[in-house]
Amino acid sequence: MIEKETPIAILFVCLGNICRSPTAEAVFRARARKRGLAGRIRIDSAGTGDWHIGQPPDQRAQTTAIKRGYRLNDLRARQVSAKDFTRFDYILAMDNANLADLRALDPGNSRAKVVRFLDIMEQGPDEVPDPYQGDTDSFARMLDLIEQACDRWLDRLAGRRNDGQ
Ligand code: 4NP
Repeated sequence: MIEKETPIAILFVCLGNICRSPTAEAVFRARARKRGLAGRIRIDSAGTGDWHIGQPPDQRAQTTAIKRGYRLNDLRARQVSAKDFTRFDYILAMDNANLADLRALDPGNSRAKVVRFLDIMEQGPDEVPDPYQGDTDSFARMLDLIEQACDRWLDRLAGRRNDGQ
């Protein structure tokens, strides 16, 4: 009998959960599906702040994403909670402030590995800059970084499965 694998659970976290982390959620889901990994990975996103709870992603993030084939309109913002640290294997912070806020919320001895999303990259910035106050280019640059890092994470997670770690 083939045993069903428990999916790896990944939570993307930014400040508002309306620009960076929902974009990362959609990109990661689409690219995981393309690699045939969709059933092995559970994906969600959340914000450290509470201002946008229940709202769909920022229109600029949606417009930028749809141009590259990612639909964000069904996503709704939620705030990260202490329970997330037991529900996810990886909690990936978009910037240093998100990481500090997550560390402050971490109940300790938790299942989740809490790191920056861009720590997987060998070169380039270590934060995905907050595009909220920026222009259209800021959103396109955000998506560039997110696509690159999602591919690296998928490489790592696929490898993890292959070598049983
Ligand atoms: P996000 O962008 O953290 O990438 O979702 C932001 C969205 C909203 C705010 C800041 C950043 N805000 O201050 O309301």
